[in-house]
Amino acid sequence: MNTTPFFLDAKPVSYLIGEQALDSSYRLVEKYPRYVLLVDDNTREHCLPVFREHLPELLSADVICIESGEQKKNLDQALFIWNELTRLNVDRDALMVNLGGGVLTDIGGFVAATYKRGIDFANVPTTLLGMVDASIGGKTGIDFGKFKNQVGLFVDPVAVIIDPVFLKTLEEKHWQSGFAEVLKYGLIMDRELWQWLYGKDYHEIDFWDKIIVRAARDKIDIVRHDFEEKGVRKNLNFGHTVGHAFESFFLKNNRPITHGQAIAAGMICEAYISEKLTDLECSHKEEIVEMIDKNFSRLSVTEEDVPMLFDLMRQDKKVREGKLRFSLLKRLGKAVHDKEVGTDVVLESLEFYMHDRSRL
Ligand SMILES: NC(=O)c1ccc[n+]([C@@H]2O[C@H](COP(=O)([O-])OP(=O)(O)OC[C@H]3O[C@@H](n4cnc5c(N)ncnc54)[C@H](O)[C@@H]3O)[C@@H](O)[C@H]2O)c1
Repeated sequence: MNTTPFFLDAKPVSYLIGEQALDSSYRLVEKYPRYVLLVDDNTREHCLPVFREHLPELLSADVICIESGEQKKNLDQALFIWNELTRLNVDRDALMVNLGGGVLTDIGGFVAATYKRGIDFANVPTTLLGMVDASIGGKTGIDFGKFKNQVGLFVDPVAVIIDPVFLKTLEEKHWQSGFAEVLKYGLIMDRELWQWLYGKDYHEIDFWDKIIVRAARDKIDIVRHDFEEKGVRKNLNFGHTVGHAFESFFLKNNRPITHGQAIAAGMICEAYISEKLTDLECSHKEEIVEMIDKNFSRLSVTEEDVPMLFDLMRQDKKVREGKLRFSLLKRLGKAVHDKEVGTDVVLESLEFYMHDRSRL
């Protein structure tokens, strides 16, 4: 089928999104005399051949390959890339192309932005989460010590090229993970998107191209209005205050879960809190819970785990002056941010998550 990808020139970033985006993307990056491609062990195997087939103009690019996985989003790996760039005599006029999921675009953007005081980079995301979220918005960085994204900077790529062609080889759990973020856009800002998805199991969905274009545009819209996360961008954190606590909790207990599983659980808790504090209708909360339960199993947590979950929440970046601040829903498709929430309501939401299993 011949489709035209969505193009947006949102200076300083050019976006090309949708089926066949890769085939017409050279014009976005043609001015560079030299290219360096950053891949990881999985994207080298599954995505690099596809990339080369659709963008043969970059066949001569040098390739740097890193190890995959969140545990590798660290300083050692950043050092490795800086060393490789130095060994290859890469100069400031080169373009670094980050071909991979969120881990790779986060570390790749960070390294590019700091190498020789910054070289240009482009993101070509290859996971659903990367396509609808991580590759867009200029947050780059690495994990440091015990903390995720502890070191990094806001810096935009020159281009983001999003082509669903890469998703054919994506593992099941990473589809599910990206789906949580897609649902989130529906809930915080795009009721129509929510309506496209409501009632569906993500396995049944056959219109991913349309969903990806829509969700990516939602994110672009937010970050164009609030690049530095001073206001409306905070709405993207819906589900993430409790969600990050779940994510860290399972990581600490050597039972890592995906980001999406954590956020899905966080959205159930925060939908509950929204009903209590920001007037989300009960029927809407139930719709959210039903949809998440259709697509995600409940995480196994018990009363004994609650103190640790609270501790982890207090360490979250969204805590100010000791008070927990949440992005919550006013209604389906409308979020509000910086809402202070008492620990009693957070506790109730965890109880709700653990015990309201009537419909499971
Ligand atoms: N910068 C941001 O705004 C932002 C937003 C959300 C998430 N993130 C970050 O994104 C990261 C998570 O990203 P992710 O979920 O994409 O995980 P990921 O980058 O670890 O990718 C998941 C796995 O899939 C493999 N893979 C990637 N594309 C593939 C393909 N097409 N076929 C087969 N395998 C493929 C990867 O090698 C990896 O093993 C986290 O570090 C998170 O902090 C950043």
